[in-house]
Amino acid sequence: MDDTRPTLASYTAPDEQLGVGGVMLRDAWYYALPSSALQRGHHLHKTLLGEPVLLGRDADGKAFALRDTCIHRGTLLSKGRFDGREVECPYHGWKFRTDGQCTLIPSQSPDQRPRPQDVRAQTFPLAEHQDNIWIYIPRTGAAVPATLPPVPEVPAVADRQQLHVSMIFDCNIDLAVIGLMDPAHGAFVHRSSLWRKEDSIHEKHKAFSPLPESEGLGWRMDRHTASRNSRAYRIFLGGAPETEISYRLPAVRIEHARTPKYNYCGLTACTPITPERTEVHHVMYWDVPGAPLLRSIMRPLAHRFIDQDRRAVMMMVEGMSFHPPTMLVQDADTQTRWYYRLKREALAAQTKGRPARNPLAPVTLSWRS
Ligand code: FES
Ligand SMILES: [Fe+2]
Repeated sequence: MDDTRPTLASYTAPDEQLGVGGVMLRDAWYYALPSSALQRGHHLHKTLLGEPVLLGRDADGKAFALRDTCIHRGTLLSKGRFDGREVECPYHGWKFRTDGQCTLIPSQSPDQRPRPQDVRAQTFPLAEHQDNIWIYIPRTGAAVPATLPPVPEVPAVADRQQLHVSMIFDCNIDLAVIGLMDPAHGAFVHRSSLWRKEDSIHEKHKAFSPLPESEGLGWRMDRHTASRNSRAYRIFLGGAPETEISYRLPAVRIEHARTPKYNYCGLTACTPITPERTEVHHVMYWDVPGAPLLRSIMRPLAHRFIDQDRRAVMMMVEGMSFHPPTMLVQDADTQTRWYYRLKREALAAQTKGRPARNPLAPVTLSWRS
């Protein structure tokens, strides 16, 4: 995969390489929120990819998503009442079922048009899986395709989600993604006795392969014994785990670490709110006993960890505002190259109306971290 040894000039990241500059890829599933954040009979507003989305859970427990702007005059429907069956717009009282069908227009006499049955609110496909709620965002003005790609899934090793933390990064999705996937910042950004120390840096060799088409456009770091500088893992899972990590577009990283005794799965997903704001979700699953205690220990740690990434990304964003020339080195930055390459391929495939092809091939990458 991309293993030609470059000349010095090719280290420089040309504009076109970074040129997907925050484009919010559509026709894809995006992480919206954990199931636990949506109570039965309640609804709330989220902005995803600049789209106003009303997320709700009906009286039977089924989650749904409507465009949050009323089709009458654009009022936010999420500001109105929801009785567990119908959402009522707070401006003129139009009522909508959870499937978008309008059921009442209070101002209309029976012979006036439109009648409630003539109008619908737009819905978004929603999938609730493994205690996560995903929303499918179609291309602007395009119909939702008849078959949707699979919803990202963690290996079924632990019954339930154990912990969800999220944080907003004030940057575009690409900078959030590459900031999180970068393999060479650990010893500097996450410096801690539990995780990484600068003097623990050593050479690593990792085998990678493209994801099968059925799992989307992405790659996998093949199963390997976790680095000896990951003390946190050893303490948590009671031994040196084997780890496998996958990345897939638009922005989902799934990690599965296992020892003969226990499993840990981490799902990291970035969802653009707007072109310049991105919500980063980190979801953790484990089957180590003592979940409530572990949760209270892990929550502040996970929060601190992601905040370290956020601050690192913000420092990069501040520097990038001066439009400096930058470079991508081998092999530590190769995954960043792949991310941009796959994203360009996804955009090209959408523009040309053809299926996306994964251009990557198996390769071993080496770096020191
Ligand atoms: S704006 Fe919603 S009913 Fe008028
Ligand atoms: Fe990090």
